[in-house]
Amino acid sequence: MEKSLHALITSVFFFFLQFTSQCYASKDESYSRPPARNLIFTAHHGLESEAQQVHVSLVGRDHMRVTWITDDKHAPSTVEYGKQPGTYNAMATGDHTSYRYFFYSSGKIHHVKIGPLEPGTTYYYRCGGSGPELSFKTPPATLPLEFVVIGDLGQTEWTNSTLAHVNSRDYDVLLLPGDLSYADTHQPLWDSFGRLVEKYASQRPWMVTEGNHETEIFPIIQPHGFKAYNARWLMPYEESNSSSNLYYSFNVVGTHVIMLGSYTDFDEHSQQYKWLEADLGSIDRKKTPWVIVLLHAPWYNTNNAHQGEGESMRKAMEELLYKARVDVVFAGHVHAYERFARIYDNKLDPCGPMYITVGDGGNREGLALTFKNPASPLSLYREASFGHGRLRIMDETRAHWLWQRNNDSNSFSADEVWLDSLSTSTACWAIDDEKEPPKFIDNDEL
Ligand SMILES: [Fe+2]
Repeated sequence: MEKSLHALITSVFFFFLQFTSQCYASKDESYSRPPARNLIFTAHHGLESEAQQVHVSLVGRDHMRVTWITDDKHAPSTVEYGKQPGTYNAMATGDHTSYRYFFYSSGKIHHVKIGPLEPGTTYYYRCGGSGPELSFKTPPATLPLEFVVIGDLGQTEWTNSTLAHVNSRDYDVLLLPGDLSYADTHQPLWDSFGRLVEKYASQRPWMVTEGNHETEIFPIIQPHGFKAYNARWLMPYEESNSSSNLYYSFNVVGTHVIMLGSYTDFDEHSQQYKWLEADLGSIDRKKTPWVIVLLHAPWYNTNNAHQGEGESMRKAMEELLYKARVDVVFAGHVHAYERFARIYDNKLDPCGPMYITVGDGGNREGLALTFKNPASPLSLYREASFGHGRLRIMDETRAHWLWQRNNDSNSFSADEVWLDSLSTSTACWAIDDEKEPPKFIDNDEL
């Protein structure tokens, strides 16, 4: 009875979403890009005890967190794993949680930390003591390292297309700067999203931060928001000395990645600000010469969509990132691709981060089609198409950024650029810090 009620609500919800998406897509007379595509609802047909929605994420230097959901509330939170298929010589037990959102009650959400794991190694694993075998590969011990970056993913036919393109070439870690499922309070869509991405997110670590579609605030009843997001997408915030799952950082070979929260407090008196200041101060650029930041609402944006939404956060935090010589800042939210020059305070600055918006994963709302004209000299490439990006850290000083447009079923390399790490730029460090990069404490435990 409960399932058929969910099915009915889901059908009505889908109809409404598709109707609004079509309205959105037909608003612009000059529209020439492919329209938003249909939502995909991914159902679970297995046993109640069977692990579903499996995804893995990095925790600390040599551990991985395995997360999955079972309808069976008695299923054990255990992961068996090993380096040979079918041979599990290690096992770990973890925690579980669940949540209620109005009339929806989640399944049992399991979080199990496994390791220590060897770098660059494929591990075979299964969740809950039974069910199908899965595998993931740990990041390498040495560079090169390849990140995939996708924002505003959703769960449409475009999402499937983007993920297929992502999977057509190997990578090490996926970074998602917010807007995952577009469930927008309709909780079964969180489950559907988890099932859709399992094929990919169970094989490589997915590191995410939240967007506006994760908030799900409802006055009085759900005043704080992020209930589903925090329960389902637990990230290593405790391991990076953060007090909130909404912002955290981690190290992965040669790179310090900072995930910021656009939808929690960020002013100079906030917990997030203080945490960011301390986190930036703890970076050892000799160990992690690359520093990259992800957040949802872009600080620089010449699209007509979401103008100015990231401005108050930029004003609060930009100086911190600038002084720390952050290399790149990725954002989502705007459903298009845009790459900027190195910027500080709205001006070209060779010591500022490069800003890149990749809110083009494939969500149900369609593309943000129009950009402001004339183009700002700060904006070097902009295009309203679905796609994904790849940041390949080649070595301590050089990285390659590539943006792949989805050309229907093909993926096309549309924009690329080489980056030099600011860690070795003597000129940049001399500006504020008297010639030498500051001496940092060892943060190897992150
Ligand atoms: Fe967004």
